[in-house]
Amino acid sequence: MNIDQINVEEQIGPVGKVLKESYGNRSVLIHCLQMIQAEEGYLIGDSLSKLSKKLGVPLSEIYSVASFYKQFNFKPRGKKVVRVCLGTACYVRGSEKVLSILEEEFGIKDGETTEDLHVTLETVGCVGCCGLAPVATINDVVVGELVLKKVGKLIKSIKEE
Ligand code: FES
Repeated sequence: MNIDQINVEEQIGPVGKVLKESYGNRSVLIHCLQMIQAEEGYLIGDSLSKLSKKLGVPLSEIYSVASFYKQFNFKPRGKKVVRVCLGTACYVRGSEKVLSILEEEFGIKDGETTEDLHVTLETVGCVGCCGLAPVATINDVVVGELVLKKVGKLIKSIKEE
């Protein structure tokens, strides 16, 4: 992403103007990180260095903020981001077994991405569909009632291009 194209004043907006009085350009930091990640897929060090200069926010502070939120990634992610819910409702209905089957099938653990960048496997606390437990998502699309018989179908849909 061309960091020079970020218009800080435009991103700040009316609410941001109030925040800017207290926090300066820090008020748009998270939004800028979201923009970079949306365009580049993950947070590349070079872009963060440029953003640091642009906003006048120390690079260490940018890393501190970005590493706090699970939404930000520092490594490339897979084309298919699969999240297995390990929230209470899903856990008691067997989602841990679903996770271990997926880990074995794709040869990766929670938080990892396959070498071909096709699959990233993650866990989440709850996706708000407890009535469909156990639940997983593929690129934010919910797949519910993942009884073991349906896991094969889930794997097939993950492998599709
Ligand atoms: S616990 Fe899994 S969707 Fe709520």
